[in-house]
Amino acid sequence: MKNSKFINKIICADTLELLPQLEADSVDVVLTDPPYFLDKMDNNWNYEEVSNQNNQYTIKSLPAGMKFDKEQGKRFYAWYLDISKEVFRVLKPGGFFFSFSSPRLYHRMASAIDDAGFEIRDAFMWLYTQNQAKAMGVDHFIKKMDIDETAKEKIRAKLNGWKTPQIKSCFEPIAMAQKPANQTYLNNMIKHEVGLFNTNVRIGDNMYPANVFTIESINEIIDKAFLLPKPTKKEKGGYNDHKTVKPLEICEYLIKLSAFAKDAVILDPFIGSGTTAVAAKKLGKNYIGIDTNERYVKISEKRLKEFDDNPDLFKEIEKENKNLQMKFQVV
Ligand SMILES: C[S@@+](CC[C@H](N)C(=O)[O-])C[C@H]1O[C@@H](n2cnc3c(N)ncnc32)[C@H](O)[C@@H]1O
Repeated sequence: MKNSKFINKIICADTLELLPQLEADSVDVVLTDPPYFLDKMDNNWNYEEVSNQNNQYTIKSLPAGMKFDKEQGKRFYAWYLDISKEVFRVLKPGGFFFSFSSPRLYHRMASAIDDAGFEIRDAFMWLYTQNQAKAMGVDHFIKKMDIDETAKEKIRAKLNGWKTPQIKSCFEPIAMAQKPANQTYLNNMIKHEVGLFNTNVRIGDNMYPANVFTIESINEIIDKAFLLPKPTKKEKGGYNDHKTVKPLEICEYLIKLSAFAKDAVILDPFIGSGTTAVAAKKLGKNYIGIDTNERYVKISEKRLKEFDDNPDLFKEIEKENKNLQMKFQVV
């Protein structure tokens, strides 16, 4: 088997150094959630800095969520272009590249993927309602103005409710890119076992797969069309203190849509706490995970081992998910 040294392993390395060691045209699907280049979550992701609430931001004088400078987006593009070129090389012809992102810097990420040679086929929208608005009022600054109290009061009254320009962020975009297929899709599928989408997969109330999904019950219409089973705490692991763990169900959905071959290889070059690998394992596929941070590599390995030690764990998780789903339907 190609890449046998790396198959079903989580490797501690800088992705840009490891990817060149993988064989060309060898991977079926790349599914990843890279650093979003917001604040300190960039390619120099440091466990202590990201975990310490007081020390997360590169710029200290702006409210949380706005603490980025414009250069960060440019650096993101340049870095992700190099990553995407390698991803392009290792993917089989017709192979899919799914990449999570933030609404603020999606454009940089998608442009890097596009410029690396991929066809951007679509974008998924992961919808949620539970997020805190990060906008900041201007009261604090009015207080510091060198004017009398009456004038301050007037400004306060005039700007009542007006805040820094941040709305509640309620979706994450996920780029859906494809390495150009070899001749026709059918030809590509027969030759490389990748390139078409599995429309037997269902979402919501038995609906055709859509580019919108949610894991929260929102309302009847949205649930009916877009709801994926809600993930449980169990699937994440109680010891898992990664800051940005993705729901297993979402990774599963994307793998189910795109990975056809029995021995398909799913690569996540920014594996974090291992969610993509767990999803691949659950679906009987192979994985390769990479992360620079040794702590996260250990967490990923621990999560994966739990499933080796207790093969019923997947069934238990699925049962819990189903129960939750039924609860939603009753509500
Ligand atoms: C957003 S997190 C992934 C979280 C993951 N989806 C999960 O469910 O746990 C991104 C990961 O990329 C890793 N990372 C950052 N720069 C990297 C690099 N140059 N090479 C490999 N990994 C890197 C970070 O350590 C972090 O764990």
